[in-house]
Amino acid sequence: MAYTLQIALLLCGTVGLSLCYSGPDLPPGPYCGISNTCCKDRQDGCSHRILDSKCYCDQFCNRTRGHDDCCPDYPQVCLGEVPPQPIANGCKHGRTFYAPGDTRIEDCHVCECIHAPQGDDYWQCDRDPCIMSEDVLRGVSQSRLGWRAANYSQFHGKKLKDGLIYKLGTLPLSRETARLGPINLDKEIAYPPHFDARTHWKNYISPIVDQGWCGSDWAVSLATIVSDRFAIQSNGAEKVILSPQTLLSCNVRYQQGCRGGNIDTAWIFAKNHGLVDEECFPYEAKITRCPFKKRGDLFSDGCRPVVPQRTSRYKVGPPGRLIKEHDIMYDIMQSGPVQAVMTVYQDFFHYQDGIYRRTRFGNNELKGLHSVRIVGWGEENGQKYWIVANSWGTQWGEDGYFRIARGENESDIERFVVTVLSDVTEAYLRK
Ligand SMILES: *[C@@H]1O[C@H](CO)[C@@H](O)[C@H](O)[C@H]1NC(C)=O
Ligand SMILES: *[C@@H]1O[C@H](CO)[C@@H](O)[C@H](O)[C@H]1NC(C)=O
Ligand SMILES: *[C@@H]1O[C@H](CO)[C@@H](O)[C@H](O)[C@H]1NC(C)=O
Repeated sequence: MAYTLQIALLLCGTVGLSLCYSGPDLPPGPYCGISNTCCKDRQDGCSHRILDSKCYCDQFCNRTRGHDDCCPDYPQVCLGEVPPQPIANGCKHGRTFYAPGDTRIEDCHVCECIHAPQGDDYWQCDRDPCIMSEDVLRGVSQSRLGWRAANYSQFHGKKLKDGLIYKLGTLPLSRETARLGPINLDKEIAYPPHFDARTHWKNYISPIVDQGWCGSDWAVSLATIVSDRFAIQSNGAEKVILSPQTLLSCNVRYQQGCRGGNIDTAWIFAKNHGLVDEECFPYEAKITRCPFKKRGDLFSDGCRPVVPQRTSRYKVGPPGRLIKEHDIMYDIMQSGPVQAVMTVYQDFFHYQDGIYRRTRFGNNELKGLHSVRIVGWGEENGQKYWIVANSWGTQWGEDGYFRIARGENESDIERFVVTVLSDVTEAYLRK
């Protein structure tokens, strides 16, 4: 059979019979209808030219119709069937046909084939922006901004509005919290141009977490900072990785789990109830049942402490707020990484390396709050930056970290920085 006909009939199989008679690929005839002859056996007299091949009007068509060499009008002429309504021609995508009402996914969009009573059927896709944006990728690569953008596969097929919920997770600060008076240290010392907690306290700094598709940054940033500070303040004796799952599963009141949390509520929970270690209650990126009693200790929780003297869960003192560049630096040098709440727009998701500053590329309307962990600072070509741990795994950014401009409140990163002291077991407290 001729190539064209095969293609045309192949399409019939995909789109349904109706298209075979009315579609643009096969001329509709008439064929059997020319002479109204329908034969029993296959014979040349009972065939007609169609494109550069032949089609037949015999009863073999009965068995094989729809995908063989029968004339398009065989069922109407020879079987007396009503011709199918010449409905929609459907929608096409690549080499595939879709019927009206069919949907397909394109990146993060759902597209539906819409039937147009007059005119051609067409695709209608939702217009929500995806996390990954061509505008950001192109814009950032064509400008000299000091940072580079990447197209991350972990964000493919995801909408920006969902990313702002499930890759971040910090609820707006209450008015009361936002007004919390900052601590003013005002220490006039010679600050080193570079400081990195990861090298200064080698092996004490907890690894990069991947929060997954769960807006738990409020829990992850808190747990990692408290872990780091337990190790630092105990000179490594209480080096422990604390479990953000404790917060996600047990600090549920006034919190929204994977849809976000209030950092002040979380700090109060950490102060009053404490956290257990990651080994005892591993992170699952979803709310699970809290397995612990409200008032319990590591023993009743079934967790194993790293020092024999410890019985209570890992708790903290009252959190404090820092806002000045030097105060933040002083606190990190003294006690370890701090928590910061930054504002995230679409371009931030694309960060690959360099010193981040917000651009105007991509969407500038949607934004979210993100809690992260500042572990140090530095300078490069006269540009000052913070070194910050994100919680999107180590494939993102600079091995899971990013650098961001320092001293200019970039993305509000200096707006609300939290410091806290960990309740280290007395015997091991660093003097
Ligand atoms: C074709 O098949 C139909 C049922 O599918 C049957 O009623 C009819 O008699 C058949 N016609 C011929 C010509 O074999
Ligand atoms: C990112 O990469 C994927 C896979 O290579 C590609 O399909 C997609 O179009 C890219 N996204 C953008 C915004 O360029
Ligand atoms: C940082 O910017 C935010 C919002 O623009 C503002 O509310 C805050 O006071 C600023 N913080 C500092 C330390 O400048």
